[in-house]
Amino acid sequence: MIRPLRQGAINTFAHRRNEVPCSDIDGVPIDGLVARHGSPLFITSENRLRHNVRTIRRALERHHPAVVHAWSYKTNITAAICRILHQEGSWAEVVSRSEYEKARLLGVPGNRIVFNGPYKPRAILERAIAEGALIHLDHLDELNLIEAIAREQNRVAPVALRLNFNTGITEPWSRFGFNLENGQATEAAVRIRLSPHMNLNGLHSHIGTFILDPRAFGEQVRLMTDFMRELEQEDNTRIAYLDIGGGFPSRNGLQGVQSPPEQAVPELDEFAEAVGKALKKGLSDRPGPPPVLIFESGRAVVDDAQSLVTTVVGTKRLVDGRRGIILDAGINLMLTALWYNHPVRLVHPKGGIPEETVLYGPLCMNIDSMRQLVSLPPLELGDRLVFSPVGAYNNTQWLQFIELRPPIILVTPQGGDEVIRQGETLTSLCEHERMPPHLDTSPGEWQPPVR
Ligand SMILES: Cc1ncc(COP(=O)(O)O)c(C=O)c1O
Repeated sequence: MIRPLRQGAINTFAHRRNEVPCSDIDGVPIDGLVARHGSPLFITSENRLRHNVRTIRRALERHHPAVVHAWSYKTNITAAICRILHQEGSWAEVVSRSEYEKARLLGVPGNRIVFNGPYKPRAILERAIAEGALIHLDHLDELNLIEAIAREQNRVAPVALRLNFNTGITEPWSRFGFNLENGQATEAAVRIRLSPHMNLNGLHSHIGTFILDPRAFGEQVRLMTDFMRELEQEDNTRIAYLDIGGGFPSRNGLQGVQSPPEQAVPELDEFAEAVGKALKKGLSDRPGPPPVLIFESGRAVVDDAQSLVTTVVGTKRLVDGRRGIILDAGINLMLTALWYNHPVRLVHPKGGIPEETVLYGPLCMNIDSMRQLVSLPPLELGDRLVFSPVGAYNNTQWLQFIELRPPIILVTPQGGDEVIRQGETLTSLCEHERMPPHLDTSPGEWQPPVR
């Protein structure tokens, strides 16, 4: 067989990042972590997580006096990760009943929970209203329900309006909240003003995710502050906070957009500056204290704080000549492989000519590929690879499908390693299943069907 050896082409930026090994996380050797906890393994860096949230908050604080980060639980809901961010002063941003309840379990007071999302069932709304949560209205039926609950509780519920609009820079997301351009948002604000049981306290919008153009955030803030000024012309309306949602990118490689990611993602300071400048302009002659700026960054905070270590379990040559590698981690663990080209590195440097390689997961399913094409040196059974960043949306969107989900560990600032989520077992896999009595026979009693 003649085997084409393709030296992975040098990219636009003239370097191949995959060749720089990644043998430790914050100085803790990956080999030791795998020896103790197995492969595949999610490894979280506590240092990096704390550093990231501080860096983004400080960048915004350079432009605005009152800034709050609300941690988006759906980005990564692992309790220890949420706890670290709450220790750093982050509030919780939740979008469901169970997320709200988890934030309360973790000790977050109701008035530090931002409650977003299109479906908030009555029971949890009753609790959230009683506990003073920041409830962001998504549609009119929800507005009516909240008003009814507040009337029953004999309270005035502080609420915020979620807005959607066209920045002209990003694809508009119109399915959440009230539209600004067609007057829906104004109508909802009037409806709140006329109600004795609601008080319009804030404005919210989330213009999308992994936004690469800082000007989009400037435009978002301009539209929000303009609307705020319009509303505040009424005597009894005073907006206490503006929530700009999430959307800052991480340093991952969006498929079809970036290669390699580092150079294509603007610096965080550029995003903060766009937000800051627009805020300054929008609030210039507004009397009284400025509104608090809430931001709900998910991926920019956690993505690069987590890595996924995986081991080569098989090698093959595909019919078109490309090399295929089978790993013990698949898209059941890293669903984001569907839209990212995650940077992947070897734990130990390897010699040999790099060639274009397809990285498959262990699932008996055709779409299970972790990287479609990446230039790597020859790999053997037992070699280890590290995917990173993987901290955003994988530990929440992962699937129990074919394989069990592995543990998540935390590398602590002291160099220790702690399990923050145990790996699944057959027992945990089956614990929600029930056998109806007529099927509850031991295998010995099994009879073949009568023909
Ligand atoms: C309302 C809201 N806030 C925050 C986030 C976090 O977004 P990101 O991870 O892009 O920062 C999301 C994610 O979709 C969201 O829907």
